[in-house]
Amino acid sequence: MAQGEDRSLPEVRARVGALHGITDLARKLHFYDCWAPDYDQDVAALQYRAPRLAVDCLTQASPGLPHTALILDVACGTGLVAAELQAQGVLQLHGVDGSPEMLEQARARGLYQRLSLCTLGQEPLPSPEGTFDAVLMVGALSDGQVPYSAVPELLRVTKPGGLVCLTTRTNPSNLQFKEALEATLDQLEQAGAWECLVAWPVDRWELATSELEVVPSTSANDGFISGIVYLYRKQKVA
Ligand SMILES: C[S@@+](CC[C@H](N)C(=O)[O-])C[C@H]1O[C@@H](n2cnc3c(N)ncnc32)[C@H](O)[C@@H]1O
Repeated sequence: MAQGEDRSLPEVRARVGALHGITDLARKLHFYDCWAPDYDQDVAALQYRAPRLAVDCLTQASPGLPHTALILDVACGTGLVAAELQAQGVLQLHGVDGSPEMLEQARARGLYQRLSLCTLGQEPLPSPEGTFDAVLMVGALSDGQVPYSAVPELLRVTKPGGLVCLTTRTNPSNLQFKEALEATLDQLEQAGAWECLVAWPVDRWELATSELEVVPSTSANDGFISGIVYLYRKQKVA
């Protein structure tokens, strides 16, 4: 569908449901390439709130984050996180993503000083150790996307004492992934690499793509799936 044409909510749900069903990374990145021109409009229809929630979490936990702070947006997509960060006064922003077409959309937004093609889980981030005051990865930790084994790479490029903000969905089909992710996060904490500042469960994350994704015990969610925002502080002394 050409950019600018409105899709109905059932069409958007079907498209995003198909994306969730892809577990092969190369196929998933290709899907994002094709989806890039319509991504913002479609996720708005789904009332996708993860970028706002993650940036709120980061800025509330770190009200003193200077405007000169250098931030990395991992799996930046079209730059929705950048738009939220800019609204909070953040000016120094780099982004990486595995989809060239998503990066093109992000470039057009004009909010990143540097954008790089990088496939997490297959190659390292293109930055030296301890570069960023904060690293965010929003909407990308799930099967077939960024593997939880890539989390230490985010920690590597974070400055000592810097912040790492992550999100994942907690709908039924992502629960196994979430458990494995949390085991990785806990191991890093037990090893003294970082400390957990926030683990914030959110009920109304985005509209579900199917009834099966809405947990019955949370029927008050009214057709939404749930998610979680994590915020960690890297240890100060390496
Ligand atoms: C749901 S979008 C989220 C984009 C943006 N962070 C947001 O919240 O709108 C997921 C993004 O992750 C990227 N992605 C998925 N797997 C990746 C990987 N292994 N390495 C790099 N980028 C990946 C996709 O290309 C896509 O742009």
